[in-house]
Amino acid sequence: MRGFAFSLEQKLLDLAEEAKKALEKAQDLEEINGIRIRYLGKKGELTQILRGMGALPPDQRPRVGQAANEVREAVEAAIAARTAAVKEKIKQVRLLEETIDITLPGTKFALGHFHPLTLVQRRIEDIFLGLGFEIAEGPEVELDYYNFEALNIPKDHPARDMQDTFFVDAEMVLRTHTSPVQVRTMEKMAGRIPVRVIAPGKVYRRDDDATHSPMFHQVEGLAIDTRITFGDLKGVLQTFAAEMFGVSTRTRFRPSFFPFTEPSAEMDISCVMCGGSGCRVCSFTGWLEILGCGAVHPRVLEMSGYNSEEVTGFAFGMGIERITMLKYGIDDIRLFFDNDLRFLEQF
Ligand code: DAH
Repeated sequence: MRGFAFSLEQKLLDLAEEAKKALEKAQDLEEINGIRIRYLGKKGELTQILRGMGALPPDQRPRVGQAANEVREAVEAAIAARTAAVKEKIKQVRLLEETIDITLPGTKFALGHFHPLTLVQRRIEDIFLGLGFEIAEGPEVELDYYNFEALNIPKDHPARDMQDTFFVDAEMVLRTHTSPVQVRTMEKMAGRIPVRVIAPGKVYRRDDDATHSPMFHQVEGLAIDTRITFGDLKGVLQTFAAEMFGVSTRTRFRPSFFPFTEPSAEMDISCVMCGGSGCRVCSFTGWLEILGCGAVHPRVLEMSGYNSEEVTGFAFGMGIERITMLKYGIDDIRLFFDNDLRFLEQF
């Protein structure tokens, strides 16, 4: 009987040796797990050996049981050690294989940028701020009074026509130009001088073709002081044209009519494409019309609280889309509002 116990113990020691040898050869975690199942699993070799314990006399069982526990612990320790070693090796191999090619080009981030109309509006603002003007604002949904009445636009004037104006109700319109900001500024200033403002913003007209959009942008200008002359207006606008389109840009003023200015004019600049020699852009005239302007009509001054015997003023208004189209050679206004990135990314 002793001999049987002895051979059981020997079997246990052999098992431990065998398991350790197998573990030394194991190259991955799957293999290690296979070894665990084979030696320590429910149907594994250790269990098989322990089955034989039932045949031992009771006094010998504790010794063999203890030996079995020691073997289990030893094999478990060997498994843990081998697992750690294999994991470390996997890590080393990965570090060796995972090389970074620092000569590869980096990932470029697409930076957002400003819409061409924003760029041009800001450029216009910069130029006039440099000349001492301040920025004024007014509502896009405007009272008929400010949009028409106070600008000396009589009830039967064609500018009020249903064809052009978006009406909100009997008293309200979507402003058709930025000129109402002139009136609002004068009211706010309550007769004080000097007034030097520009008013950029959206305006609305019932138009829609290659050169007209139902919503577009204007910049209004207004200056009021003692002894302001048409010469001041010409000087300011010539300076603007030179800054916006280049120093060699020439200007000319043609007589025109606006209800809120007297006298009124339209300003042309020498063609930005041909420089004045004549081309398709300027219809072979050498000139491009870019804005309306004039001396503020005495009636407009009076209606907004200024004494037209004491002060004079000039005003002007231009379309930002038109300036932008000329500056960048764009031939269709709708491109500004289609939001086609192929167009917008060029600016
Ligand atoms: N408000 C005019 C328009 O939209 C433009 C304009 C012309 C504005 C002459 C002015 C001006 O201030 O003096 O067509």
